[in-house]
Amino acid sequence: MATVQVNLPHHQYQVCIEPGILQQLGQLARGVAPHARCALLSDEAVAKLHGGVAEQSLRDAEYDVITRAVPPGESAKSLDNVRQFYDVLLEARLERRSPVIARGGGVVGDMAGFVAATYLRGVPFIQCPTTLLAMVDASVGGKVGVNVPQGKNLIGAFHQPHVVVMDPLVLQTLPPRELRCGLAECVKHGVIRSPELFAWIGENLAAIQAVNPTTMTDLLQQNVAIKAAVVMEDEKESGVRAHLNFGHTFAHAIEATAGYGTIEHGEAVSLGMIAATKLAVDEKRCPPELLTQLIELLERIGLPTTAELVSTDDLMSAMLLDKKVANDRIRLVLPEALGKVSIVDDIPAERIAAAWEIVRE
Ligand code: GLY
Repeated sequence: MATVQVNLPHHQYQVCIEPGILQQLGQLARGVAPHARCALLSDEAVAKLHGGVAEQSLRDAEYDVITRAVPPGESAKSLDNVRQFYDVLLEARLERRSPVIARGGGVVGDMAGFVAATYLRGVPFIQCPTTLLAMVDASVGGKVGVNVPQGKNLIGAFHQPHVVVMDPLVLQTLPPRELRCGLAECVKHGVIRSPELFAWIGENLAAIQAVNPTTMTDLLQQNVAIKAAVVMEDEKESGVRAHLNFGHTFAHAIEATAGYGTIEHGEAVSLGMIAATKLAVDEKRCPPELLTQLIELLERIGLPTTAELVSTDDLMSAMLLDKKVANDRIRLVLPEALGKVSIVDDIPAERIAAAWEIVRE
């Protein structure tokens, strides 16, 4: 089994990666949270696709399993659903040591994690991500939360999982568009920390797109190792964890103005990384070859490199609403070279505005 260890001052856990590992979910859960009952939160689509494998494994490990599935999609990440989940847990008399298990994509993981962080002031949490995006990003690092009408992820907490269980085989049923979206975050990891990973993705793209289990295990291990290293250095995002936001301030503006749901997060991140790198080139902070390399890799993956966008004024207004804005300054993560980025907050708005043009169709 491939593992990545996450060591934080107050908490340690393992990310376990292996084709077929879903069948061992029960044993792995017992290893970290041996209690009589557990709650398994899923989304309806995932519950149908992967049948009862996770649930059966938990029952085989002698858990009394309480299950609940939310409808697929971002709108499920609501306080209403959290409230309903609390009712289910209270009704089933889940206790302080009973684990909450999230089986699904980022929506399910964020929401179940928020419930785990707050129910009885915090219970053990187990992540069992089923999308590439959730595996390489959201399931590791402890950010949990929900959306409110005022914005995404505005209510949340840091609640680290007790174990993360990743089965590369579940990616074989992932729609190709979702696989590409996950790859956008993998490319991001390459740009911020690892020229080796960036090159490896390009060299192994055919096997990645064929969802070869060995290649996917390798892809997951490399990406989780980068994410874990960043989180271990700065758990609560007071410094380098912000590097993970490379491309994301541009991306959030695209998502907000396009209307949530019309463009996928990974697609917006692809466009956002290009705009951020163009800005870095314009500011003479990074060589133009990096922009060429980045666009070439994203194109080969099949991610968008241009899109129909709203006016630049509207995009800039959306950027100013991002929760990473501090004292009305837009904070951006800009590359300096492949594998190296820095945080910049002193670029005048008109120069940021000019960078949008490279991704406009
Ligand atoms: N997804 C960014 C982070 O975990 O910090």
